[in-house]
Amino acid sequence: MSTIHQTVVIAVSPAKFILFGEHAVVYGEPAIAVAIDLPLRIIATEAKAFTVDGQALNERSHAYIKRAIDNYWEGGPVAIEIRSDVPRASGLGSSAAVTVATLAALRGLAGEDKIEEEALAKSAFEVEFSVQGRASPTDTSTCTHGNVVMLARKAGENLLWHVQKEDNSWYIHHLDIPDATFVLGNTRQRGRTWEMVAKVRRYYDKSGHARETIREIGDMTLEANKALGKGDLVAIGELMTKNHMRLSSLGVSNKMLEKLVKAVSSHSYGAKLTGAGGGGCMVALTDRPERTAKAIENAGGTPMIVKPSKQGVRIVKK
Ligand code: PMV
Repeated sequence: MSTIHQTVVIAVSPAKFILFGEHAVVYGEPAIAVAIDLPLRIIATEAKAFTVDGQALNERSHAYIKRAIDNYWEGGPVAIEIRSDVPRASGLGSSAAVTVATLAALRGLAGEDKIEEEALAKSAFEVEFSVQGRASPTDTSTCTHGNVVMLARKAGENLLWHVQKEDNSWYIHHLDIPDATFVLGNTRQRGRTWEMVAKVRRYYDKSGHARETIREIGDMTLEANKALGKGDLVAIGELMTKNHMRLSSLGVSNKMLEKLVKAVSSHSYGAKLTGAGGGGCMVALTDRPERTAKAIENAGGTPMIVKPSKQGVRIVKK
């Protein structure tokens, strides 16, 4: 009796949230993002046709996976399955996690054992950029490297890699932060990243105030980097709340995000919307996670207590 050996590779990516600098980072300002232990798994199997969760691979339903395969895969057909704990369109990086884990699984199928983080992060960014039109490498770098990642205009300590796209240049660094607990509050309203990015772009192009706000967010992120270095949770929290106010003035908050940020104000060091906004999630820094989670729930959001994850993308089975 003969057995057919199908190669199966499983790659897992963390999710992420942005602690400082979303939107401003699209214009080259600094940002800080945190990987979290919400796994997204891609199971890739050699097959007779390209499929995703049993459906024929197509641009409309599987834009990121299709682009990853079209641009970075030279082998035969692959069946992909997605197993995800990451809520979609909620600002937690589900599209970056899908892209990063797909590319890692394809590299595994091609016989690579060890993930080259820099090459993988750069290809994942190209995929996101080509699907979304405009994007920063924040999510893709964080899902690839894990830990906490800082994007800056200049190279500094613990530089990981450098990404250049059109006029923008980002130096991506590993950042060590103090032990901290965060509570996410999901509005369960879909926030569409490309719509929010386009909205800010229109405002930026016509308003000096918007351009000034983007620069102020950049300055706050640099200050936050110093506060993180000192482990000053009070200063970090205050800067989060200030960052939130600037994001609101750019027009990317909404009623529910405002409600959740307000609900946690007396239980946390500070809070802000995280990611593109217009729905999605907020995040609070707190030493009373249960109390903060309850406040989010009472205000109608879905809370999630999270710790930064050291793990970036990895191949768990081959
Ligand atoms: O929606 P998210 O979490 O993927 O965040 C988008 C962050 C932006 O700064 C708004 C866009 C980007 O590509 O950096």
